[in-house]
Amino acid sequence: MTDTNAGRPPLPDVSFPADGYVGDPAVRAEWDDRYTERQQLWSGRPNGALVTEAAGLTPGRALDVGCGEGADAVWLARSGWDVTALEVSGVALERAAEHGRDAGLTIRWVHAALSEAALPPASFDLVSAQYPALLRTPDAAAERALLAAVAPGGVLLLVHHAGMENQQAHDSGFDPADYVWPSMVAALFDDDWEVEVDEQRPRVAPEGGAGAHHTDDVVLRARRLR
Ligand SMILES: C[S@@+](CC[C@H](N)C(=O)[O-])C[C@H]1O[C@@H](n2cnc3c(N)ncnc32)[C@H](O)[C@@H]1O
Repeated sequence: MTDTNAGRPPLPDVSFPADGYVGDPAVRAEWDDRYTERQQLWSGRPNGALVTEAAGLTPGRALDVGCGEGADAVWLARSGWDVTALEVSGVALERAAEHGRDAGLTIRWVHAALSEAALPPASFDLVSAQYPALLRTPDAAAERALLAAVAPGGVLLLVHHAGMENQQAHDSGFDPADYVWPSMVAALFDDDWEVEVDEQRPRVAPEGGAGAHHTDDVVLRARRLR
């Protein structure tokens, strides 16, 4: 059997959440509160855009950014991917890890924020970020971390809710200007990247769970050529 990982940097040897979070404590606390309010926040099923877009890819190493309760990570692992799943909420990550264990799957769970996670560069054949709530910073740290994680020949798949980027700030405190949207990542592509999909389309939404009211996705899929 060919060792597809030969010559690549090793992945972090982390297996379970509660071992030292890396990232902004306020972000972790905000998301822990949100998850704690409900026994289960999301549907428990993989996101439709991921299932569609990953269908034609050859499984290798995958990174799930903001994995939430783990449905995508579990689906990827079941589909033959070697999965690393990253999440700021320890509450969500414990649920995710339990789903993984119940399914008898080995998944690398990382309790960290994307920009602070010190992931091995250029290491993942698929970097999937499904509706990630990544905070925007002047140095575009989150956008750059997404790009940096993709191995040459690999794919970045970023999916978000259509139309949110241009909304007014809500009374609830949610301001789209605070977050990273696919257009901001696309703006950083250089000649090393080939955009394969950049479109808005109806969302194939898993039934149930918070966020089920969002009807359309923005799907950005790009391949790192070198
Ligand atoms: C809208 S939820 C989507 C969860 C999951 N991808 C799904 O589709 O069900 C966004 C997730 O991103 C996580 N998150 C927020 N900031 C993050 C960061 N800087 N790094 C990694 N995950 C983050 C949140 O805790 C939350 O679980």
